[in-house]
Amino acid sequence: MQVIIFDNAQDVAESAAEWVAELVNKKPNPVLGLATGSTPISLYSALVNKYKADQISFKQTTTFNLDEYLGIEETNKQSYRHFMNENLFDHVDIDKDKTFLPTCNQGENPRKQGLAYEDKIADAGGIDLQILGIGANGHIGFNEPTSSLASRTRIKTLSQQTLNDNSRLFAADEFQPTLAMTMGIATILDARYVLLMATGKNKAKAVKDMVSGALSAACPASALQQHENAVILLDKEAASELEDQEYYVWANMQNQKVNKEFGLYHNY
Ligand code: PGA
Repeated sequence: MQVIIFDNAQDVAESAAEWVAELVNKKPNPVLGLATGSTPISLYSALVNKYKADQISFKQTTTFNLDEYLGIEETNKQSYRHFMNENLFDHVDIDKDKTFLPTCNQGENPRKQGLAYEDKIADAGGIDLQILGIGANGHIGFNEPTSSLASRTRIKTLSQQTLNDNSRLFAADEFQPTLAMTMGIATILDARYVLLMATGKNKAKAVKDMVSGALSAACPASALQQHENAVILLDKEAASELEDQEYYVWANMQNQKVNKEFGLYHNY
């Protein structure tokens, strides 16, 4: 894992935007895995700024989102499709026909839809860079604790902690879905690079478990220990429970030199 610690959340977002921009600008027909939640909002706004400054074009890009609530209409303001339109797709030159979410409408079989999503990702050539957040309970996507480390896109029941954490986004009288479709942990591990962003004190324990805890379904993000190219972007608060902070700062200084000369990716 490459653990990189920044002074603040804005620097995390700017760095994540650099990773996305280098991939999208260098690789023909890039495939991005995208995430929703509060954390990536500042990444998307940094990308929109880059687009407006003519520093990035998404014309050739295909995207796959991690998750979507089950049986929710695309037009529903709580849908992740709506979130993506509002925060990114409506503001850049992406072809929306090449943007996918694991939607499962009323009456559709979630198991079949999950498999179809896996096929669609494979048909696009696999995900080059998967953006991730992390739940306070260690989830990635909606892979809640005890999710199989070999899981694929499927229907998932949200944990009480996730429902509580996300209740801030719903009005008191608004329906909050308890079921979602999510890429599995094995789906995420198939991405060529994963870029996980975590900010704030409430993520510190999950970050510690992910980086240096046991590889365990109790912390789904710990599965990233098995990924060849996992990059973890943290602000100081999210990094605050890590024991080896000095090492990460030192290692990052060395990596920066290599990045400057050869770029961020070893294969693009
Ligand atoms: P957040 O969610 O960015 O809203 O904190 C992260 C997640 O649950 O993956």
